Amino acid sequence: MKILVTGGTGYIGSHTVVELQQNGYEVVIVDNLSNSHAEVVDRIEEITGIRPGFENLDLTNTEKTADFFKRHKGLSGAIHFAALKAVGESVDKPLLYYKNNIGSLINVLQGMNDNNISPIVFSSSCTVYGQPDILPVTEKAPIKKALSPYGHTKQIAEEIIETTVATSSIKAILLRYFNPIGAHESALIGELPLGVPNNLIPFLTQTAIGIREMLSVFGDDYNTPDGTAIRDYIHVVDLAKAHVVAIDRLLNNKGKSKVEMFNLGTGNGFSVLEVINSFEKTTGVKLNYKIVERRAGDIEKVWADTTFANSELGWKAEKGIDEMMRSAWKWELALANN
Ligand code: UD1
Repeated sequence: MKILVTGGTGYIGSHTVVELQQNGYEVVIVDNLSNSHAEVVDRIEEITGIRPGFENLDLTNTEKTADFFKRHKGLSGAIHFAALKAVGESVDKPLLYYKNNIGSLINVLQGMNDNNISPIVFSSSCTVYGQPDILPVTEKAPIKKALSPYGHTKQIAEEIIETTVATSSIKAILLRYFNPIGAHESALIGELPLGVPNNLIPFLTQTAIGIREMLSVFGDDYNTPDGTAIRDYIHVVDLAKAHVVAIDRLLNNKGKSKVEMFNLGTGNGFSVLEVINSFEKTTGVKLNYKIVERRAGDIEKVWADTTFANSELGWKAEKGIDEMMRSAWKWELALANN
């Protein structure tokens, strides 16, 4: 079975392509390389021994996307990762985010509709919940007003998929990621942030290796045991495996409704200081950090209730925080040696 993976050279996309191929799926990647590199295709081949198909295509281009679907008749489904994801940038350039993230989704759904392709797995985010009133957060928690245009695009995209599947033969699973970190064990693929990283782990490992002078811990006056903010960090390989389970479920008609959503987290929350402790303990590297003001737009704490994903999807994250740190550090060291 051949699966279209949009954004397949990106961080989560590339790890998912590896897992799909290792589970017998054929993959064709579509990516415009706006935040990734063509060499990732070579790396995927190095890991799996199979070269995925690849097309450099901007999915916001309606004609070119329609043409892609015409040329790829045998597709069994799609996993749609391709999107912009920098929260801060989305505040400065909201239209860019709406145009890119929503425009590409519409073109992909249109192509699937016109060519009778189903199902779709969509890359959503726990950001749709905002700061939840009840923790851990379940899939039934209300969708709160988005804190950024980026988060808003994920909410709108979920709604577009829900309304589209209602009147078409497409089935869907929306996967709400918590905080994906870490890298593939081979250290051949991982997160490749452009410029100064916004996210905690790439900033942390770049500080540890000496690219950055100091990690700023954003706030220690939150209502948490050590005062720093809490997130549910999940190993990217565990996350990638959930996509294979989701596509299997859809292709085997195991879904209970035309669109289903699942939280992808470990169910465990870690504070920023606990993450730093785990990194130092696992790698033996001392980290330079200081406490600074809170970052605007950050929520205090969020972690997943994974009961539904565990029981209904039949998937469970296996790797713990130390393993996430170890693989993130191995990846940073590999980057330094390249
Ligand atoms: C954010 C988005 C999320 C998005 C993800 C990926 C929000 C609410 N969440 O997650 O939707 O999918 O980015 O881009 O916008 N931290 C530091 N120092 C740093 C960097 C981060 O202390 O230099 C702290 C943050 O305050 C936070 C934690 O580390 O408590 C994780 O931050 P980050 O990795 O940026 O992810 P989120 O903000 O949780």
